[in-house]
Amino acid sequence: SAFEHILVSRPRPSVALVTLNRPKALNALSSPLFKELNHALELADNDKDISSLVLTGSEKAFAAGADIKEMQSKTFSEVYSTDFLANWAAIKSLRKPVIAAVSGYALGGGAELALMCDIILASPTAKFGFPEITLGVIPGGGGTQRLTNIVGKSKAMELVLTGRVFGAEEAERWGVVSKVVQTEKVPGDEHLPVVHEALEMASKIASFGQLATQAGKEAVNAALDLPLSEGLRLERRLFHSLFATNDQKEGMAAFAEKRKPNFTHS
Ligand code: HXC
Repeated sequence: SAFEHILVSRPRPSVALVTLNRPKALNALSSPLFKELNHALELADNDKDISSLVLTGSEKAFAAGADIKEMQSKTFSEVYSTDFLANWAAIKSLRKPVIAAVSGYALGGGAELALMCDIILASPTAKFGFPEITLGVIPGGGGTQRLTNIVGKSKAMELVLTGRVFGAEEAERWGVVSKVVQTEKVPGDEHLPVVHEALEMASKIASFGQLATQAGKEAVNAALDLPLSEGLRLERRLFHSLFATNDQKEGMAAFAEKRKPNFTHS
């Protein structure tokens, strides 16, 4: 791998796996790490042979937050004038779906990174939380906005103002994660069960046409940003636009002919 703080592989056809790899700091998200992460994600997003991405960390930590030691001595003028953390938003502009596979700590910026992904799968050991308040700050990577969208005001307030850590079960109940993956190791698979499951899901997604997948992602994301009438209009227009694709002709012909479709992402 050309990277120092992350690992990039392609464990399944059309699926990129990006692993945060700063074990000594529990994958604390330093600026150099984030730079590499953004670069790797952009490469995968622009690679026509990749359809979906999985982002993970280690068994002990998805990521224990932004790098506190790096932030400690920064001043207001420095963080404001450089728009510190603005580059964290790059992951939101990826067109391909990203599944976060979370084991262990996903705290502060680590939780925010997971929330920027499209789907979160959690191991039963996952521990989410927004401890920024204990450090004299607040979430700065979208936590107050994205968490509130998902869990509502009262719970978001509680979590942001107390810094309380919450586990996989609560996260699933509140809709923060889509599924908790049980811990039995899959025989012959080197990955953690939660990563294995994320790769299976990514492969499933990769078996469909990329154009429809990207349109689906764009439409769901619009639901969080747009008024309902605009979101519905965008959805319908995207739906219409897919009738210009070969994949729509192929998918519907395959159904009518009782065969498997062969999507060409065109
Ligand atoms: C820098 C970190 C770190 C972090 C852990 N480490 N988290 N370094 N930034 N966020 C380092 C520790 O300093 C230590 O280094 C090593 O990783 C192992 O951590 P320990 O604390 O020894 O492990 P453990 O006792 O198992 O405790 C795990 C932990 C604890 C509960 C996760 O590390 C912890 O509380 N970390 C900070 C969590 C946090 O507050 N995150 C939010 C950060 S603020 P040494 O050198 O001592 O071995 C934030 C702001 C985001 O994210 C806003 C914008 C996105």
